Amino acid sequence: MKTSGVLVTVLAVTTTTNAWGWNYYGNPGYNQGGNPGYNQRVSSGSSSSSSSSSSSSSSGGSSSSSSSSSSSSSGGGSSSSSSSSSSSSSSGGSSSSSSSSSSSSSSGGGQNDGWSWEMEYQMSQNYHVNSRQSTDVIGDLYNMSDKDMSSVGKTVKLILNGDRNGQPQDTVTHYDSCPSKGTPECAKDTCCIWKYIADEMKEAMTGTAGRCNGLARGAIRLGFHDAGTYSKKLNAGGADGSIVTFGECEMRSINKGLEEICHQTRVWFDKYKDFGISMADLIQMGANVATVVCPLGPRVRSFVGRKDATTESPVDTMPIHTWSADQLITLFEDKTISAQGLVALVGAHTTSQQRYAYPDKALWPQDSTPGVWDVLFYGETLNPNAPSRILKFPSDVHLSEDSRSKNVFSFYADQRWGHALWNEGYAREYVRLSLLGVNNINSLTDCTKVLPGWSGNTWSNPDQKYMDEYMQGKGNRDYASSPLRYGDKIPGY
Ligand code: HEM
Repeated sequence: MKTSGVLVTVLAVTTTTNAWGWNYYGNPGYNQGGNPGYNQRVSSGSSSSSSSSSSSSSSGGSSSSSSSSSSSSSGGGSSSSSSSSSSSSSSGGSSSSSSSSSSSSSSGGGQNDGWSWEMEYQMSQNYHVNSRQSTDVIGDLYNMSDKDMSSVGKTVKLILNGDRNGQPQDTVTHYDSCPSKGTPECAKDTCCIWKYIADEMKEAMTGTAGRCNGLARGAIRLGFHDAGTYSKKLNAGGADGSIVTFGECEMRSINKGLEEICHQTRVWFDKYKDFGISMADLIQMGANVATVVCPLGPRVRSFVGRKDATTESPVDTMPIHTWSADQLITLFEDKTISAQGLVALVGAHTTSQQRYAYPDKALWPQDSTPGVWDVLFYGETLNPNAPSRILKFPSDVHLSEDSRSKNVFSFYADQRWGHALWNEGYAREYVRLSLLGVNNINSLTDCTKVLPGWSGNTWSNPDQKYMDEYMQGKGNRDYASSPLRYGDKIPGY
């Protein structure tokens, strides 16, 4: 066991402040359209996101095809990828992303060649999209003056206000090593034990294809289902561990599907509880480890020190997948989350493979790359010709169509700009979500450094051909759904 306790910054990313005071990463290739090898379906159209979003109004279950065809927001439907892809199989709008990496800088302009009008355009879109996210200050920070705030308190307030990114400014700062578990040195460093926990979680959440598995997806959903019970009106609920400690996991039907991750979380808690951790922190750390373990997923700032619940969380505080946009937006407003913030958060369905909402379609994914944190979920939800084995939740479709949320939905769907924009939006909103109902934010500790490093902005599925064929409806249902569930490589025929 190494004992140096050194914090290593492998890659320090410079940040720059644009005209509106919005910080973005200055590392070439990140947050720009031309990131070489960024392996998603890419449209050749120079996408004016604003035009795509404004035209994406539609009635009925899908967005206007004009937006899809005129911009990269068609996600899986990108016709242009055929030019880049030897395996583009795209009747249902899903072309292969496996070989699109070589063409991923093909979108005309905006390459990594310094400042350009397109970057400026991107920055302004980022500002407009993200400035409409949630901004309420929450918990103990609400009534606290800045001079009484700890550095964590100030950082969280900046994130909540939208003045700071919910991702750390570098993507890979991490413990190179930390003191041995159980030593006084480890006990002195609040984050030390979390490094052991995060490493164990990572191991359990990754499959042989390098994708995140069902446990990871469950952990992300569990983080939401614990914290999301918060209600401003009721002044109750939040990230307090009650979903596990009070057995809400098993007793409330809204939590169906979370049994396995709840069980695993109890196992982890029993193993580490003597080190003074809380269940509330364990759940939120699990969600953040899982997010970055999914290829292309962001590192969301991770704080510890939450207190565990002493009572159950309030009932009827969680959304249902058949709800209208109005019902969803109203519910989330009571959680201090705006319509745009909600759109950023539901993007987590990019990893999803539902089992219980539609049991006859168990393990059908919500986009064509389950286990990968890409923006295909947004594009394919908008795309009327999405691959046939994608199951869209009505709630997601409603958000993609409502006037309060559809523009952001389209922005995130953009194959060139959407991913960086979404990761930032998601991280910011998830920091908020993970702190709902927490009334000691000022005394939390930032342990982001225990998270696995960011996997980067490139990803190739080793079994893309089989994934594509499966999504198009080839093969029997079990052929790929099970490997996909475990993050494992789909075997050849
Ligand atoms: C509009 C609000 C939302 C609704 C109605 C909703 C509904 C659902 C439903 C019905 C499932 C499928 C469960 C199953 O049958 O297995 C699901 C899965 C999932 N949800 Fe949501 N959700 C919402 C928001 C969110 C948010 C905010 C997050 C995270 C921040 C999230 C993360 C996930 C994940 C990761 C899964 C996949 C679970 C798995 O594959 O096992 N959801 N959601």
